[in-house]
Amino acid sequence: MSAAIDVAARDGAYRIVVAAGMRRRLSRALAETGLSGRPVVVSSPRVWRAAGAGFGKVTPVLIPDGERAKTLATVARLYDRLLDRAADRGSTVVAVGGGVVGDMVGFAAATYLRGLALVHVPTTVMAQVDSAIGGKVGVNHARGKNLIGAFHAPSAVLVDPEVLSTLPRREFRSGLYEVIKYGLIADRGLLDLLDRHLAAVLTQRGPVLAEIIERSCRIKAAVVSEDEHEHGLRRILNFGHTLGHALEAATGYRRLRHGEAVGLGMRAALTLGVARGVTPRALADQAAALITRLGPLPSVVDVRTADALAAAGRDKKVVHGRLHFVVVTADGAATISDVSTRELTAALAAIGVRGR
Ligand SMILES: NC(=O)c1ccc[n+]([C@@H]2O[C@H](COP(=O)([O-])OP(=O)(O)OC[C@H]3O[C@@H](n4cnc5c(N)ncnc54)[C@H](O)[C@@H]3O)[C@@H](O)[C@H]2O)c1
Repeated sequence: MSAAIDVAARDGAYRIVVAAGMRRRLSRALAETGLSGRPVVVSSPRVWRAAGAGFGKVTPVLIPDGERAKTLATVARLYDRLLDRAADRGSTVVAVGGGVVGDMVGFAAATYLRGLALVHVPTTVMAQVDSAIGGKVGVNHARGKNLIGAFHAPSAVLVDPEVLSTLPRREFRSGLYEVIKYGLIADRGLLDLLDRHLAAVLTQRGPVLAEIIERSCRIKAAVVSEDEHEHGLRRILNFGHTLGHALEAATGYRRLRHGEAVGLGMRAALTLGVARGVTPRALADQAAALITRLGPLPSVVDVRTADALAAAGRDKKVVHGRLHFVVVTADGAATISDVSTRELTAALAAIGVRGR
């Protein structure tokens, strides 16, 4: 199975190729992207230990991953390694890893010599269906996540669903919450597919997994092609993220994987949508049941409502003092900007956040 998905971007269109086993013929796949430059593969010790053997004869530059290593200091070390390897304007940086590696390597590619060609080879569900597509790159700052960044569209995204077989179980499940998100906002057939074949998908291999990865890539590609710089449509990708980010922040970024936070945020947003009368109850019930089957989600019952609301108020989705909140509708998703504190409080209560 192999699929090609084109993404429109201001600095030139690029292609996502989804093909099982592609990592074994990486140099050919890179050549087929049309890039002639010398590739410099960058990965992390953890990713390379788990999945590196499948990439054949490649000697990557290794940088630490993990949210705590996603800093300018790590990027500075990567600049040193790129200089050691005499990377020049003709080089192509190839990021092999999850979202952390992709965001950091992407940021280095955006800035080293004012910009080198970048190819993403994402190795987590999250990176394959989300972070590698759309051109956002960056690092964390001591005062907040992803505060330093840039837009740097890749020249290609090479997705091999087979690499997901070595992912730790929790990381794998965490990424699937984003797939549920895509199903809810854009492709109800995808939601049904995941619902029907969850047991097969959870084996972390096989054709249904490849299909759900491909369909998710298509949705992200379509949305960012329309709205690369998040002026409007791209906001619907934030479904479940407003309260999800708030819960991540309120629990000190230690308890929840990002996808798990999105799972909780989606359950809250579905409750809010049903209460407003915009989300069909049957759909909300189906999605909530699927989220539960994918679980268990870490408990957030000790989070204070006021802390979660305060974190939501500091969100990047607050524009001119208004929170842009995404709800699921009968035929997709919509952004509302008049969501009240009372509604948010009730939605948080539905996932157990009730403390004062
Ligand atoms: N740029 C964007 O648009 C965008 C979108 C969403 C998320 N993100 C960012 O993505 C990051 C999260 O990414 P993530 O969820 O991929 O986490 P991650 O990059 O931290 O990877 C999770 C863990 O899995 C390991 N791993 C990766 N691939 C593996 C494999 N094939 N086998 C075994 N282990 C493997 C990693 O070493 C790591 O320990 C966050 O920093 C977030 O801000 C960016």
